[in-house]
Amino acid sequence: MNVIRFTDLIAAGKVAGQRVFIRADLNVPQDDAGHITEDTRIRASIPCIEQALKAGAAVMVTSHLGRPTEGEFKPEDSLAPVAQRMGELMGREVKLVANWVDGVEVKPGELVLLENCRVNKGEKKNNEELAKKMAALCDIYVNDAFGTAHRAEGTTYGIAQFAKIACAGPLLAAEIDAISQALSAPKRPLVAIVAGSKVSTKLTILKALSEKVDGLIVGGGIANTFMLAAGLKIGKSLAEPDLVAEAQAVIDAMKARGAAVPIPEDVVVAQRFAADAPATVKDAADVAEDDLILDIGPKTAALLAEQLKAAGTIVWNGPVGVFEFDAFAHGTETIARAIAASPAFSIAGGGDTLAAIAKYGIEKDVGYISTGGGAFLEVLEGKTLPAFEILSRRAQG
Ligand code: 3PG
Repeated sequence: MNVIRFTDLIAAGKVAGQRVFIRADLNVPQDDAGHITEDTRIRASIPCIEQALKAGAAVMVTSHLGRPTEGEFKPEDSLAPVAQRMGELMGREVKLVANWVDGVEVKPGELVLLENCRVNKGEKKNNEELAKKMAALCDIYVNDAFGTAHRAEGTTYGIAQFAKIACAGPLLAAEIDAISQALSAPKRPLVAIVAGSKVSTKLTILKALSEKVDGLIVGGGIANTFMLAAGLKIGKSLAEPDLVAEAQAVIDAMKARGAAVPIPEDVVVAQRFAADAPATVKDAADVAEDDLILDIGPKTAALLAEQLKAAGTIVWNGPVGVFEFDAFAHGTETIARAIAASPAFSIAGGGDTLAAIAKYGIEKDVGYISTGGGAFLEVLEGKTLPAFEILSRRAQG
């Protein structure tokens, strides 16, 4: 991807004394009391901020948090908990500034966090007047918000059109480098795991990957729909019978390339969807009418683990079973541990996947963990994300 990189501007001495506006993705999960429950995105955003400060810039950082109503700031929309957490992680006070669109006071060496950018009128629809005002706040605009790179909003797109210089921050650059490494020139075999409740939400990804990968492992409700396509019975399990033909088309596309979509040979079933529901391992051919498939079986998990251990590259999105319930977590745990043990370059993304990685403590054994949810999926679909499109256009002059 041909974009100007912030690190190159720093190396060229072009950042000292400049006003730098960083769009980060600090959209972190919070509990009902507003406490941050998971801070990966804040941690991942700090290197860019520190690099800017070290280079002698006057640093403004903003992000959205949730999906607030524009023009109606409510206390729960505030980035205050983020400012506090960021301050703890950076060992300095992080000042939070509200109503910042018409001017921000910040000196070289200082850092301010600008309140939730989605409260500003015109942010979502990328209003030109707002974008121009925000661009006027800075000399250099840095997009480091990979998690929001699939949105063409004021702070992710419009400001990049009008800022004097628009560049990619280190996180944005690292994300795209890692995904390109996994998909453009992968070490083979390339194996993708795409799991989740619905084929419909991931159909375009399944189709795009079926043209590239050597193995396509499906899990969750998606696997159930593929089992139907393979002529198996799935009882009352979650599936989309109207998408069986689409699943079959993915299977056929893979077969035509000499690749395969492994269909589960055994499964773990229950009579109801509950953590304490008794779990029974069954051959995939023996699923009864009142069974709910909640995980892949041990034989299937072991076969997939072997495939993952022999892979050159692994792309992982989605747990293969209801891993939140211990009785139905073995499949996901086996997959997670196989990825950790595999010499393959692995890349993982998506909220549930990150939760599974954390549950099994394999963070250090995954090649790259993406901060993107929707953005990660759209890159896997083969789309050029708006944030990259505008940055590469700006890099051409
Ligand atoms: C995310 O959490 O996926 C990003 O922060 C984007 O948030 P959005 O879906 O509200 O645009």
